[in-house]
Amino acid sequence: MKQTAIIIGASSGIGRALAKVLHQNGYRVIATARRLERLQELAAEQGEGLLVKKMDIADTSASLAILKEIVSGLQPVELIVLNAAVGGESSGMAWETQKEIIDINVRGTTALLNWAYSYFKKKGSGHIVTVSSVTAVRGNRYSPAYAASKAFITHFMQGLRQRARKEKAQVTLTDILPGFVDTAMIAGRKQAFWIASPGKAARQIYGAIKKKKSFVYVSKRWRLAAWLIKALPEGLYNRL
Ligand SMILES: NC(=O)c1ccc[n+]([C@@H]2O[C@H](COP(=O)([O-])OP(=O)(O)OC[C@H]3O[C@@H](n4cnc5c(N)ncnc54)[C@H](OP(=O)(O)O)[C@@H]3O)[C@@H](O)[C@H]2O)c1
Repeated sequence: MKQTAIIIGASSGIGRALAKVLHQNGYRVIATARRLERLQELAAEQGEGLLVKKMDIADTSASLAILKEIVSGLQPVELIVLNAAVGGESSGMAWETQKEIIDINVRGTTALLNWAYSYFKKKGSGHIVTVSSVTAVRGNRYSPAYAASKAFITHFMQGLRQRARKEKAQVTLTDILPGFVDTAMIAGRKQAFWIASPGKAARQIYGAIKKKKSFVYVSKRWRLAAWLIKALPEGLYNRL
């Protein structure tokens, strides 16, 4: 039987590319996001075995209900990828933007992550993948709320990994920390460098899934950048 994967946030960018990679590697994929027409285009392009569902994770009760409905209709689900997020803070410090980041990247993602963990623990197996960011390793002036939202997810995953070990839960937890990837999220960003294509990012994420990694930097060279960002003394880092 085909393995089933659910991707939250698969209408564009990394999530869309990952949906294709998983589908092409034999998974039955359920792709979700707010823009249904984009998902339908993806389904038409990929053919049988890629299903779509509209979902807005800012509405936690509605998105939880949809996730439960998908899971109960398509058992057994073995992989849930939490990729949906918004950025958009670089242009300013508007509270409305920051609130949206917290609502989607933190509140919406955590509600689904928490449920997925309990579901897989009870089922006795499963794999959760979160798409965080290299920005999770340290705050930055370009996007304080976005970086903090990603730090929340990365710390939450670390906590869940420890908990899974203690509880002997058979749940694999993989946190992906991308550097810059060429998607709408970084369009027009002047300070971007080492930019990977969404396809390359998706292939590396697929590799991390197959190897059941705890966390990976995408692309791989961002591991070095993350190490440097963490190692810089506070005074020097704040001058960057
Ligand atoms: N691009 C980069 O350089 C970069 C770097 C580090 C980390 N990341 C992370 O990579 C992930 C994918 O981002 P991307 O670069 O591929 O950007 P993207 O093309 O903008 O993709 C974001 C995805 O999230 C979905 N999404 C956003 N809000 C949602 C909501 N409320 N409910 C459901 N789905 C929602 C979007 O779909 P709809 O708009 O259709 O809902 C879209 O499918 C994100 O977690 C991002 O933080 C990206």
